[in-house]
Amino acid sequence: MSIAVLDFGGQYAHLIANRIRRLHAYARICSPRVSLDELKGVRGLILSGGPSSVYDPAQPPYNPALFDAGLPILGLCYGHQLLCQHLGGQVEPGRTREFGAARLQVAKGEGVLKDLGPEERVWMSHQDTVSRLPEGFEVLGSTDDCAMAAVYDPARRIYGLQFHPEVSHTVKGMAILENFVALCGCPRDWTMEHYLEEQAEQIKKQTAGRKVFLLVSGGVDSSVAFLMLNRILGEDRVLGLHIDNGFMRHNETALVRRLLADSGFANLHVVDASAEFLAAVEGIVEPEEKRRRIGAQFLHTRDRALAELKLDPEEWLLGQGTLYTDTIESGGTAHAAVIKTHHNRVDLIEKLLAEGKVVEPLAQLYKDEARELGEQLGLPHHLVWRHPFPGPGLAVRALCSDGQADWQGVEAAQDQASQIAARFGLQVEILPLRSVGVQGDGRTYAHPALVWGEADWPALEELSTELTNALPQINRVVYLLGPVPRPAQRLKEAHLTRQRLDLLRQADSLAMEALERHGLMQEVTQMPTVLVPLSSDGIQESVVLRPISTDDFMTARFSALPPAFVGEICRQLLAVAGIEAVFYDITHKPPGTVEWE
Ligand code: XMP
Repeated sequence: MSIAVLDFGGQYAHLIANRIRRLHAYARICSPRVSLDELKGVRGLILSGGPSSVYDPAQPPYNPALFDAGLPILGLCYGHQLLCQHLGGQVEPGRTREFGAARLQVAKGEGVLKDLGPEERVWMSHQDTVSRLPEGFEVLGSTDDCAMAAVYDPARRIYGLQFHPEVSHTVKGMAILENFVALCGCPRDWTMEHYLEEQAEQIKKQTAGRKVFLLVSGGVDSSVAFLMLNRILGEDRVLGLHIDNGFMRHNETALVRRLLADSGFANLHVVDASAEFLAAVEGIVEPEEKRRRIGAQFLHTRDRALAELKLDPEEWLLGQGTLYTDTIESGGTAHAAVIKTHHNRVDLIEKLLAEGKVVEPLAQLYKDEARELGEQLGLPHHLVWRHPFPGPGLAVRALCSDGQADWQGVEAAQDQASQIAARFGLQVEILPLRSVGVQGDGRTYAHPALVWGEADWPALEELSTELTNALPQINRVVYLLGPVPRPAQRLKEAHLTRQRLDLLRQADSLAMEALERHGLMQEVTQMPTVLVPLSSDGIQESVVLRPISTDDFMTARFSALPPAFVGEICRQLLAVAGIEAVFYDITHKPPGTVEWE
């Protein structure tokens, strides 16, 4: 028995399913055109948000019979507008625009709003608004700008919410979803064991007797996928391929071998392809180009390994530990924009996917679910809880440059940035390089601003938000940790070389050890260390620490770490030959992504 989430193309449709599964009820994603026959065993429907307007001629088609099936329905954002319009109400296009936090006044604490306080913080993102309710509907709650923010028809058990209970910024969001699951009478006994059973059936069907050659980086996702496939298909039909691409962390390959051997599986083949990977990105500065080349190189290296091992490519499908977030950020669902092309979503792989030749047992899951599965499969705890590491590794953390500062449109912004920073008693300089960000659901490639002076974390957070909101030229803000005073720096020409990668590897390793020593490893979700070619002498470079905390990686906060840690790691990094300055990234996601490229 399950809840069906009808995907109208919203960024958060899969997050709704993730949240329902966290409540131990089973949720599956369906097309809005799903037939009633396919909904056997479904106890309730959730209509997701989506980028369309109900007046858009291109709105996703849906099966109107769904509204007459007698199932409880919860419509969210676009789903709320759609159900109100479909049932005879009215939606006003573009009347009210509300983005971000809003206060919901709860008029009636019942149905999905049961046990909520009189006022709750919710998260809005809409332009159209319901202006007249269908017959039989009543208002449960409203915000200043939205009179019909929560509505219901008690007789038919149909609910509509203009806000998003599935995002963590809606403080009582989980309680709202829990109320819905309860009123559907959906059992709360679903576990990851059920997911394993379902995947086992699906993977056996997909592979149809063939075998899987799985790329195993040693991160939690691919390791979980490796164990899962071993369990489902048996060791004879699975071979793991660990590629040392030269962009790995310090001693990574040895560690991966050991950790996976501890899990009891020896069917792992290791190749050193660092020279070919380095050659593939030689001279490349643009991040997406780097990502595409690295993604393609993974496949070339896999093909070479197949040939060397004399394995028939027709018999061995490609296996990957792709998560749902990899797909959505790579623009892999119907309406989503490309933020970054993840290494497991480059064109060559998309082609294989379309041909049904890629096995991805985790493709519907988020990181927290992959970890839960890992624990269940007996993966060593240390491996399950390691910080995530991107497939292209240090290659997307070592910024490259042809040495030509890119100042287009920046001079004008510098004065304004200085005025904003002056209000905080700080100085600021827009840096002559760019990094990737995510703003308004789209990709940006803009400048980081460096701020310096005496300040505490709350002031820095405020300044960072103000700078990135006020100036489109800036999508990221870093704070100078040292040295003070700041050296005058310029952009230097820099490409991906073994020497630079070794320097970054050393810095990353120091940063990770310091986190461990200060007991902060689980405090932050991830802390990339980034090498940026800013230099006062044309030789040395700068590094950025990027500690963040998040539970779904779609949004993240920068972590404000204790001064003892920050002071110590700054001193250690400055003592490394080749590093002359240390910055601390004080940008949330959005506007900045976790990785700089
Ligand atoms: P961003 O930078 O998009 O990162 O905010 C979100 C999470 O995704 C990881 N990441 C990747 N993981 N292949 C991966 O397996 C990739 O190409 C890739 N790019 C980013 C990133 O480390 C963070 O955890």
